[in-house]
Amino acid sequence: MTETLESIAQAMVAPGKGILAADESSGTIKKRFDAINVASTEENRRDYRELLFRTEEAMKNHISGVILYDETIRQKAKDGTPLVDLIKNAGSIPGIKVDAGAKPMAGFPGETVTEGLDGLRERLAEYYDLGARFAKWRAVIDIADGIPTNACIEANAEALARYAALCQEAKIVPIVEPEVLMDGTHTADRCFEVTEATLRAVFSRLALHNVNLEGTILKPNMIVSGKKCPTQAGVEEVAEKTIACFKRTVPAAIPGIVFLSGGQSDEDATAHLNAMNAIGGFPWKMSFSYGRALQAAPQKAWSGKAENVPAAQKAFLHRAKMNGLAALGKWESGLEKAA
Ligand code: 13P
Repeated sequence: MTETLESIAQAMVAPGKGILAADESSGTIKKRFDAINVASTEENRRDYRELLFRTEEAMKNHISGVILYDETIRQKAKDGTPLVDLIKNAGSIPGIKVDAGAKPMAGFPGETVTEGLDGLRERLAEYYDLGARFAKWRAVIDIADGIPTNACIEANAEALARYAALCQEAKIVPIVEPEVLMDGTHTADRCFEVTEATLRAVFSRLALHNVNLEGTILKPNMIVSGKKCPTQAGVEEVAEKTIACFKRTVPAAIPGIVFLSGGQSDEDATAHLNAMNAIGGFPWKMSFSYGRALQAAPQKAWSGKAENVPAAQKAFLHRAKMNGLAALGKWESGLEKAA
């Protein structure tokens, strides 16, 4: 079959599968490694990611694609095999983070705009040659008193649309990620309001830039209460509000919505996704593109020691399997206790 944007996007949200976000920048992976007392050296980063990509059962059955960081897409496993080939051999699709991070937005204290458009056309061509078939760009929208402003939402939406258009020109499927942060004291209803405004702006800009929606994947936050909000929305409420918000704002032509975990606990991230799929009645696939909710457990189990690799792979397989079931609406909490 010839590879098209549409066929890649469909494969990214194949039933029961989701995406492993392993694209932590050098700064972020250092934070994760600090938490397990592991030095963030190039070799340790390679060894850790290699153990994930060699978890065959997880990769083959539950992981449709892996988002990589620039360093990782160029790295080789201990035996000399490119890490990209480990991913492909497991039947999974390599992807690449291409944004240069969220930077303070001039004139808008407390807000950020994501950079990285300069030279992106050339970088995408190189990443395609290195094997990437999809990309990721993350915009960050923070909620606090007086923010987000429309200026912040529009600037980020415009950058996402320009990024998406460049990706498609390069035959790479864009993952469009506008993340409304769950930090803060806001309610789930405020998260709904801000996410609705953000998604409206994003899809309006994607249309303006002639982005092919059938060849685009959306990576959003769920509608959750701020971490410090005294009243926390329950699993059913999160699922219902998230579906309602997306029905209002996300065109049916989008093949799939893959959520970020954003700081939710492992089990919450799984339970929320499962509840949405159990409710159903929406036109898109709903799956996962988790970083922390897939990797916190294996990172802890590994703790930088070669003898812990099997335990880490077991932990990764477990989370991948649980989230794969949640993508089908077939997870239940009893399966967690059995692990
Ligand atoms: P989390 O699931 O840890 O939020 O990471 C997903 C991601 O790729 C954020 O850009």
